[in-house]
Amino acid sequence: MEQFDNWQEFWDTFLLKRYGKEEVQNEDDLFLQVARTVNRKPVTKEVFDLIISQINTDLTLTTNDVLVDFCCGNGLFTYELREKVKQIIGVDFSQNIIDTANKYKTNDNITYCLGSVVDYMTTFKTTWPGTHPNKYLMNDSLAYFTNNDLDNILKGIQTVSDQFTFLTRGVPNEDLKWHYYNTPERKQFYYDLQAKGDLTNDGLGSWWKPGDIHAICDDLKLNCVIRNQELPLSDYRMDIIISNRP
Ligand SMILES: C[S@@+](CC[C@H](N)C(=O)[O-])C[C@H]1O[C@@H](n2cnc3c(N)ncnc32)[C@H](O)[C@@H]1O
Repeated sequence: MEQFDNWQEFWDTFLLKRYGKEEVQNEDDLFLQVARTVNRKPVTKEVFDLIISQINTDLTLTTNDVLVDFCCGNGLFTYELREKVKQIIGVDFSQNIIDTANKYKTNDNITYCLGSVVDYMTTFKTTWPGTHPNKYLMNDSLAYFTNNDLDNILKGIQTVSDQFTFLTRGVPNEDLKWHYYNTPERKQFYYDLQAKGDLTNDGLGSWWKPGDIHAICDDLKLNCVIRNQELPLSDYRMDIIISNRP
């Protein structure tokens, strides 16, 4: 899978370039900054609450859990999980976005860390001695990674956590691509992006093949359950629950 190699700059400047805003000024801007939008408007409260509820259920969150939120963004979702778990470590590589999280979405049990998710777990034991995460989340972000990255992320988790559940949500499903490009104009838009060599796919990132994810998990002897999302969330994204085999 070919991948755009400047996602960091893309996300650092996304709010400015797409919306002409220097910084977040209100709750709506938080949604714009991390592209949690439909037609450039924040997702509805119904959708927002549904996402939180599904995260809670899929990760079976408890107040004993230590959760790592990969690609936590500005904490929009991280913050909503604060009372459901013991501790949250959010990781994101955009300085602007982490600064926003630290300004608007802090809590005593949340720490936001600047760093790349691909290798974050490789130094976890020295950065966080005595801390044992058992739940991992990546909300709407796997599209910015390659197969090799996912392999490395999972290997990193395995070196830190004997028992874990990792939920990676909102992954664009290659098999459902034409649900998204569902009019002649939208199809043409997609073909034009391809012809221009726009590897960001207008910011959507890469389409993932379910079979590739199963193969990566099988190689690492991990369980993997893939479920397609349904409207009002999306008819072209999937949620994936990965866990170690007992
Ligand atoms: C679409 S936003 C989602 C943010 C958040 N998970 C949410 O649902 O609101 C994608 C986020 O992934 C972060 N990101 C992308 N690639 C990353 C990487 N390799 N390491 C750390 N963060 C990354 C971006 O900075 C951005 O904040």
